[in-house]
Amino acid sequence: MTLIDGKAIALQIKQEIAAQVAQMIAEGKKRPHLAAILVGHDGGSETYVANKVKACEECGFQSSLIRYEETVGEEELLDKVRQLNADEEVDGFIVQLPLPPHISEQKVIETIDYRKDVDGFHPINVGRMSIGLPCYVSATPGGILELLRRYRIETSGKRCVVLGRSNIVGKPMAMLMMQKAYPGDATVTVCHSRSKNLTAECSQADILIAALGQPGFVTAEMVKEGAVVIDVGTTRVPDATRKLGFKLTGDVRFDEVAPRCSFITPVPGGVGPMTIVSLMKNTLLAGTKAIYR
Ligand code: GUN
Repeated sequence: MTLIDGKAIALQIKQEIAAQVAQMIAEGKKRPHLAAILVGHDGGSETYVANKVKACEECGFQSSLIRYEETVGEEELLDKVRQLNADEEVDGFIVQLPLPPHISEQKVIETIDYRKDVDGFHPINVGRMSIGLPCYVSATPGGILELLRRYRIETSGKRCVVLGRSNIVGKPMAMLMMQKAYPGDATVTVCHSRSKNLTAECSQADILIAALGQPGFVTAEMVKEGAVVIDVGTTRVPDATRKLGFKLTGDVRFDEVAPRCSFITPVPGGVGPMTIVSLMKNTLLAGTKAIYR
């Protein structure tokens, strides 16, 4: 069994990006600039955004954090999005989700200029991704592809089961794994909360990608001997013995599943660090106008 070290790969990629940024600066080019909008004070979102800002520093990017209280009106937020669309100093930006219920996430996403949508959430980027055109790929699936690539994991003709059908992980992950490319060329099944016979479905998988957000959902009997298991879950489970009062818990019961696997990602230190690095890669693409001019 090989433990997929997302933390180490993420560090390596940040160093590669930083070297490219240093080169850009030496050539007199502009430093890539990522802006992030954070609404409210959700603990998870605060941590994610702080980690994104820190990663920007590590990559040599400029970053801006724009904060609003959760009482901010939809129109005020949309105005800020329009302002960032027009701001030539900003290469790409994100609006951290979830947003408070009085704000339409879809409206916000569709207001972002797709050429600056480094999250890859805009329908134009989702559509282009689904037909294999250059685009910003959403960060978690992008990070998982990078792990498969860096560990040279074979995907062609493999059975891949994706657990979860969210717009930001499950659906794009399934599209990418079936793409005529490497990583890709897999035979993909998507399972979700209404799927039947989950154990039978999962135990067919050569590559099992768990993105349900249900701690410990995947048990040993659901995993085929020799499978590759990618755990996207990062649920905060209360744990009084921890300094922060919670334990980041994956969708996979690591201790019982790991011995059956050829490769497995841990939580934390697997997919999580790669998600942020994918956003950094998209920001570099935005800064170099590599996809859209
Ligand atoms: N909330 C959870 N994941 C993400 C992400 O990748 N981007 C944004 N903007 N919000 C999120």
